[in-house]
Amino acid sequence: MNVRRIGVLTGGGDCPGLNPAIRAIVKKAIKENLSAVGIRNGWKGLIENETFELDSRSVSGILPKGGTILGTSRTNPYKDRGNVEKVKKNFASLKLDALIAIGGEDTLGVASKLCNEGLNIVGVPKTIDNDLSCTDFTLGFDTAVNIATEAIDRLHTTAESHHRIMVVEIMGRHAGWIAIYAGIAGGADFILIPEVSITLDEVCTTIKKRHETGKDFSIIVVAEGAKLKDQDLVLQTENKDAFDHVVLGGIGNLISREIEQRLGYETRVTVLGHVQRGGTPSAFDRVLATRLGVKAVELVLKGEFGKMVAFKGKDIVNVPLQDAAGAIKTVDQDLYEIAKTFFG
Ligand code: F6P
Repeated sequence: MNVRRIGVLTGGGDCPGLNPAIRAIVKKAIKENLSAVGIRNGWKGLIENETFELDSRSVSGILPKGGTILGTSRTNPYKDRGNVEKVKKNFASLKLDALIAIGGEDTLGVASKLCNEGLNIVGVPKTIDNDLSCTDFTLGFDTAVNIATEAIDRLHTTAESHHRIMVVEIMGRHAGWIAIYAGIAGGADFILIPEVSITLDEVCTTIKKRHETGKDFSIIVVAEGAKLKDQDLVLQTENKDAFDHVVLGGIGNLISREIEQRLGYETRVTVLGHVQRGGTPSAFDRVLATRLGVKAVELVLKGEFGKMVAFKGKDIVNVPLQDAAGAIKTVDQDLYEIAKTFFG
């Protein structure tokens, strides 16, 4: 097939690395004599036909910028069949030969379904959560880990001065990737992640032992999706998003309160929140975005649709979109065992 015009969109939560990916796609497209259209705000832009032409000036200077120049939203066209039809109609009216969708499991799940309905789509993996299957890393994860690690380093010094326990709540939804990486990098004294069921007794015993050996401060890292044994997830609200995800948050406060009550050590909590998603991408994310973006255009040129570009080992490979958007990738027990060596 002769590809001449491609669309690009970013969907779901933003993350550092989206702009470098958009830049790579547009610059590679220009090199290959393709025209590029930016779709605003994820799938919403294809439903509402909100687009703009992308040229080299549109992507000039965006390499170090966080966020996405395209805008994003958590829009699920499959909530309403009429919206799927609008997406298909606008895809045709924009004269798109192909679309590159940069997203996580939700955005790429929609991409996979649309491919089955005949649209030519290639996916690029992004999410700070790193929970997408079939790729070792997703865009944004490395930057989020660096931000969280720096926060833990900063909390260490104030914890030490005040002889306090600092609980740090970290994003990641139902996977503990950011928490385990930042926790290991920041030397956490305990890490709680969704993949490992823990009781408060276990946390308290470990921290008490540490304090009895003369260390009078501790750092406890807790992933927002972590669950204490026999307890429910801690939610911010009862609302769910367009993809039926619960809104997590609050486990840090719960743990901090309980520890202070049980052990009597002064405890404070820090919820890192969206700080982890903002600001300039790390060098690793910029390079990854550049490699994934260029390879995505190459896949389009080869007519290999229904695929996602992925990072495996040291290579950029391609995998079926539907495999990537299937079950989430969670932290393996092995990595948690390594982290445990340093608890207490
Ligand atoms: O998926 C990325 C993520 O930042 C999760 O870690 C977090 O639970 C969620 O998005 C927050 O979503 P929102 O931006 O809608 O508050």
